[in-house]
Amino acid sequence: MPPSFSQRKPVLTARSPGKINLFLEITGRRDDGYHQLETVMARTNLCDTLEYEDRDDGVIKLTLSGWGGPLGMAARALPAAPLDFPLDATNLIVQAASSLQQYAGCPNGASIRICKRIPGQAGLGGGSANAATTLLSLNQLWNLNLPQKKLHAIAATLGSDVNFLLSGCRAAVCTGRGEHVAALNVRGLRHAVLIVPYSGNATADVFAALELPDSPRSIQLWQQQLQNSTGQQYGNLCFNRLQVAAEQLNPQVSRALTWLKQHAGSGHLTGSGSGCFALVRSAGVARHLVRRFSDRRSATATAIHF
Ligand code: C5P
Repeated sequence: MPPSFSQRKPVLTARSPGKINLFLEITGRRDDGYHQLETVMARTNLCDTLEYEDRDDGVIKLTLSGWGGPLGMAARALPAAPLDFPLDATNLIVQAASSLQQYAGCPNGASIRICKRIPGQAGLGGGSANAATTLLSLNQLWNLNLPQKKLHAIAATLGSDVNFLLSGCRAAVCTGRGEHVAALNVRGLRHAVLIVPYSGNATADVFAALELPDSPRSIQLWQQQLQNSTGQQYGNLCFNRLQVAAEQLNPQVSRALTWLKQHAGSGHLTGSGSGCFALVRSAGVARHLVRRFSDRRSATATAIHF
């Protein structure tokens, strides 16, 4: 579902949906330290909720209103661990709001509250989704009327996945650092069971541990296979070049993948992890697998669709 808004003046409420990666290949290292990639992202129904209230003092103030949803436990990690959700200028929400303020020369500020459901360091695009939603919402709340193109220019400075989540596409092929977005029809692919280990992955660490492929997989070939596949074959279509590095860094990723392969027939990393998923035939199958998931001391499971 796309980001949606309902304005109950003076508070604007918005849903902030995340993503999974159905395909992710790295085609090279760039001079700026990033990697050149080709990925297929699909927007999921897993979303945070944000509320934005206008302020006339120019201050951006972020507060956490709660942890929600079936992944609430993974979103806040283990109860004994420190809460891993900064509310200062290191948070992409604050960075998105400040960038928009500066770009538009806007004197207004905002009080922002978030109910967090999408776990961090899981490859589910939670932080990027929040940044995209903040750009769209404050553009509206502050009556800036900046066109999509300008918002995309700001998004690209915030993170590699922000442009896709800003685009409103249900699925897309993303290239460059990930910031170039071309809509894609992924008909037939809809449901997945998702496992999120409590221990997350730092994106930069996973990229640093990656061994570049001698001959990268072709995304064009992947798209052709997608067109020619039906039902059960979809599960084996997914691919993620970061998976080996993510497994080396985090044993909980391997455990999640092993469980998925045994019970759902396939298992794949999303983004740089630590979240893993398997595509399944229906929502019923996804819910059935969630009920069977037994490793609840190290991870949590939920059914998702996109
Ligand atoms: O763009 P983003 O802030 O999400 O990236 C986090 C880190 O992941 C980067 O600092 C970089 O180390 C790595 N990265 C990369 N190539 C990409 C995207 C991310 O090397 N295309």
